[in-house]
Formats: sequence, C-alpha cells, structure tokens
Amino acid sequence: MQETRKDPPGREFLPRHVGIIMDGNGRWAKSRGLPRTAGHAAGAETFRTIATYCREIGIKYLTVYAFSTENWKRPQKEVNALLELLRRFLSNMEEYQRENARLRVLGDPSPLPPDLREAIVKAQEGSKDNTAITVNIALNYGGRAEILHSVKALARECAAGALDPEAITEEDI
Ligand code: FPP
Repeated sequence: MQETRKDPPGREFLPRHVGIIMDGNGRWAKSRGLPRTAGHAAGAETFRTIATYCREIGIKYLTVYAFSTENWKRPQKEVNALLELLRRFLSNMEEYQRENARLRVLGDPSPLPPDLREAIVKAQEGSKDNTAITVNIALNYGGRAEILHSVKALARECAAGALDPEAITEEDI
C-alpha cells in the first residue's frame, strides 16, 4: 500500500529556508479581465497566506523576491502600485507581532522613496526580536547590483591598503 504523506509534513521533511519568486501576477489578472495592479494586490495577499502557513508548520526563513532592479523599467503607474503595496505590507506591524515574525529587507534601498525607506527601518527595528519566522523581502535586488556592491566593498578595502588586489579570491567576491 502506498504510504500517504502527512499534512503538514513532519519536521524531518521541512526545508529550513523557502524562496519565492513572484511571477504571473499580470497574467492572472488578465485572464480575469482585471488590471495588472489587481494581480499584484492578489499576489501580495497570497504571499501573506503563504507566510502564515510557513510559520505554522515551522519553516524558519522565507524569502520573497518582490521587486528587482529590472522592475523599475515597468510603466510608472505599475511601479507606483507595487511601491504602494510594499508600503502597506511593511507598515503592518501589528501582524508581525501577532505572528512573531521578524522582517528583513534585502537589496539596495537607496533609490526607494524616503517614506518607504523609513517604513523598512521601522519594520526591521520593530520586529527584530520576533523568533517564529524570518521573512526576507528582496527589494531592488539583482545579480548585477550584487556584483557591483561587492566590487565596491573590495575596492574600498584596496584603497584603504587593507587588501592586495592580487590576493582577491572568488570567495571574497
Ligand atoms: C511578477 O509578476 C510580480 C512582480 C515582479 C512584482 C511582485 C511584487 C508585489 C506584488 C509587491 C508586494 C510584494 C509583497 C511580498 C508584499 P509579473 O508582473 O511579472 O506577471 P506576468 O509574468 O504575468 O507579467
């Protein structure tokens, strides 16, 4: 007889860290005759449901790739709608406390509007002692941006005389 899988899975099967790449929000909305922004709003809600479920079953880290450096090229109206969803998501402090969730934002926040940067600082600071799950929101992330970030850090060390350029290794990068 085939063994049925437990739901939720036993702890021995759980990954420690789950990553989610948002995709298909626009197609989901289009197939229902809705604007793309409605797809993003539904995607953000689905992410909240997933985060709650992950916390309930004992996943310790959840990372969502929410807004890449490439996403700035989308129409201004769509970018504004995405930033507004992020703003709302980040200001939901009551929910982080209730869920005992620690919120972290990855990526380069510098080009984000000042009020969103402030919301990031508040959300991270206000939830830093929560222990049930760490939810990472990747914002303004990208492979090229990450390479640039590490090259700048190494260049600073070289300029300060703390690192010999010839000694730089793949691990350093
Ligand atoms: C991918 O679908 C979606 C995005 C690139 C943006 C997702 C970001 C949010 C919904 C902001 C809020 C996020 C959180 C976690 C609160 P797509 O637009 O590429 O869809 P398509 O492939 O159908 O065009």
